[in-house]
Amino acid sequence: MELSKEKIISLREKVERKNSIFKDKRYLDSLFLPSKIIGREKQAEQLIQYIDSLKQGLLVPVISVYGRSGAGKSTVVRFVCQNMSDVLSFSFVNLRKAKTVFGCSNLILSELGSENLKSAQGLNKAIDCMENKIEKILAEENKKFFVLILDEYDVIFSDPRGRPSDFVYKLLTLEENLREKGLWLCIITISNNALSEHDLDDRVKSRIGNSEIFFEPYRQEDVFNILQDRAKKAFSVKMDTAILKLCAKLSSDDHGDARRALDLLRIAGELSDGKKLTLEDVDKAVELLQKDRVATIVTNSSYHMRLVVGSICSLSLLSGNPWCATSAIYKKYHTIISKEFKPLSYRRIVDLLVEVENSGLVVSRTISRGRYGYGNEYKLKLSPSLIGPFVSEEWWNSVIEKKKQLDELEDIKAELKSRPRSLFSRPLFRSSNFLKKYNLDL
Ligand SMILES: Nc1ncnc2c1ncn2[C@@H]1O[C@H](COP(=O)(O)OP(=O)(O)OP(=O)(O)O)[C@@H](O)[C@H]1O
Ligand SMILES: [Mg+2]
Repeated sequence: MELSKEKIISLREKVERKNSIFKDKRYLDSLFLPSKIIGREKQAEQLIQYIDSLKQGLLVPVISVYGRSGAGKSTVVRFVCQNMSDVLSFSFVNLRKAKTVFGCSNLILSELGSENLKSAQGLNKAIDCMENKIEKILAEENKKFFVLILDEYDVIFSDPRGRPSDFVYKLLTLEENLREKGLWLCIITISNNALSEHDLDDRVKSRIGNSEIFFEPYRQEDVFNILQDRAKKAFSVKMDTAILKLCAKLSSDDHGDARRALDLLRIAGELSDGKKLTLEDVDKAVELLQKDRVATIVTNSSYHMRLVVGSICSLSLLSGNPWCATSAIYKKYHTIISKEFKPLSYRRIVDLLVEVENSGLVVSRTISRGRYGYGNEYKLKLSPSLIGPFVSEEWWNSVIEKKKQLDELEDIKAELKSRPRSLFSRPLFRSSNFLKKYNLDL
């Protein structure tokens, strides 16, 4: 088939027809800052209280906002600060793209409108530049309070050579320097785990205090309310309550995740015929989202972690038992690792399994093995045939082939049991190829 001018016109018409279900798709974009926040009053009040205490001279240098993904942390913090901009200046920095602690400081500098530095210039220089910039902004805006929001703050703990404690310590020094000049700085860190749960030096821990705000996962009805509000603005057709309820339910099965719910609704809308959204469109959207998520996790994992995931996929498909013991996974990992690589130790594989669990691909349970003590077992949250191909398409096809052979063998065994005498009368069993294929020693 060739592309022609007419073809483009008809494709454009098709896309427009499909998109006509949307009135304003922005409302389903997870980066969109809504003008209305549903609920979260408790967290907003806590935040306002902490920020306001600066005015009374009570210093809260660091506020740790934490909770699971899609709980509204970034949205609520930004919303509160925007609506307090009569008394404070703020800067919102997303650190996700930074790979190192120094990269984080450059992202902060960019957001403050300052030039990036070279790592050779050092962290102290970066902190000095931040101080100058914040002073300048406050002078220009004639304000005294500055809030530095560091979103996805967990990043600083994944730089293997960076020293997260030093970075936090230096930020605290920055805050003290500004205070000596009669200016107030408050740092809000946003992450999945509370700051106090991370490994920080005692000198830092005692200074940051414990000003924490927890965003518990949304309940199903909270997600439904958020969806209802957005759907009204985003779609040109009235949305069925059943559709919104299904999206809310599907995104609250694990933990109430408003982002996932909005993504689900948007993708289902894109998959619809442009006139009406159906429950089947939502089912298809779930599958697509799952695939996307698995692809992102697996393709961004290290080679060994991919093999660990592959081992669990292979074991659960071939054995038919979804729970796989650590020792079985380790054994399988050894059989599939390429000869060019040195296998990791048992201990490292145990660590990798924790990482795989944190990524959300598997769940674990501890079981008693009697006199052998306790052991862990892992189970995939999604079907192995959905995850396996992302580990390696070619390898996964060979696992499926093996599974077919095993199933055939099982059928034959069952037949042998039921008709033992007819064994050699059947031509299939006389074939030497067949015997070779299944390695049968008859
Ligand atoms: N209470 C709310 N009212 C309206 N919209 C909300 C609310 N909570 C979340 N949302 C919407 O849900 C989406 C996800 O929220 P947000 O990005 O704030 O989550 P998060 O807690 O920062 O997640 P992550 O940890 O993954 O960054 C956004 O599109 C946001 O607009
Ligand atoms: Mg966020």
